[in-house]
Amino acid sequence: MKKMITVTILSLSLLGCKHSNPLTADDPATGQGLHETFAGHFMIGTALSEPQILGADSSARKLVKKEFNAVTPENVMKWELIHPKPESYDFVAADALANYAAENNLFLLGHTLVWHAMTPKWVFEKKDGSAVSREVLLNYMQEHIRTVAGRYQGQVDAWDVVNEALNEDGSLRESPWYTIIGDDYIERAFTLAAQTAPNTALYYNDYNLFEPAKRAGAIKLIKRLQAKGIRVDGIGIQGHYGLDYPDLDEFEQSIIEFAALGIDVVISELDITVLPFPKKENQGADISMKVKLKAELNPYTKGLPAVIERQLGKRYEELFAVLNRHQDKISRVSFWGVCDANTWRNDWPVKGRTDYPLLFDRDMKKKPFASRLAPTM
Ligand code: GLA
Repeated sequence: MKKMITVTILSLSLLGCKHSNPLTADDPATGQGLHETFAGHFMIGTALSEPQILGADSSARKLVKKEFNAVTPENVMKWELIHPKPESYDFVAADALANYAAENNLFLLGHTLVWHAMTPKWVFEKKDGSAVSREVLLNYMQEHIRTVAGRYQGQVDAWDVVNEALNEDGSLRESPWYTIIGDDYIERAFTLAAQTAPNTALYYNDYNLFEPAKRAGAIKLIKRLQAKGIRVDGIGIQGHYGLDYPDLDEFEQSIIEFAALGIDVVISELDITVLPFPKKENQGADISMKVKLKAELNPYTKGLPAVIERQLGKRYEELFAVLNRHQDKISRVSFWGVCDANTWRNDWPVKGRTDYPLLFDRDMKKKPFASRLAPTM
């Protein structure tokens, strides 16, 4: 039984995107939807925020129906939101998204079951601040996966079972999952997910997977699961990129090598920032990174110069050329957000900037270059 949802009335400013009338006749978005353009090649997805899922204003949901055929919850299925206290779950927004996906025939990716970030402190620490035991953490993991993946069995089409378990050098990140449980926590998570959601595809998801060392680490991780007979169906290359990274040859190499493992490849969180990245060595998506706002880091507050928009379009076209070459290996390309007004990039790694990383602008209008993205065959 699906739960009744309480509709939360949220102000337009909270919703982010300005959208006087996003689907007017002269809007390029009234043409063919992106997912129709790529039909038969790969799905085109996006991520929805809680206000977009529950808000009284339905314009983002309408745009999604037209342009996309896959959705990911940006946050509402993360541990800290769906399971904030040991005994208490909050399924309101996740249920609403699952219903919306079912009603509109959208592929639904559950994101995410096991991650070191956006997980409440009580999961890893006792009240006195000391770490919980391996046994306690394994029990929490089991209860969480059985409850959440169990609830959405038949509704969620795929789960990001484990998110961001790797360091940049390809070794396992010393997250609380790793330090408390040990290096078998990943196999435990995939085994539990496979038992709980037998008909749901299971993915490993991470950023910077174009980097050779991290790529090798991911391959080792997947091979280790495969050698133990544990089901892993695919890998999510997050895709938080910029105008001058990643190196597209390395990106392509990762797609080729991941597919050679016999698993599906998806681009799970695509966006391309046009803003200067404050710490070159740290590009990626480590959400704990915070840099102070300075004017030189926020150059386009009054609009994006045409020359930069052309660079962004060119970058997207180059990236899609790689994706098109390997469309036989890729089932889905999902953007991380609907429009520029509500992208996380406005606040990471510097809070309060004005970024333009997506295919739809602040008024939810499709950018001209987005209409040029198309499959090659
Ligand atoms: C990572 C996570 C996402 C999200 C982004 C930033 O990529 O996988 O869930 O938190 O960072 O929004």
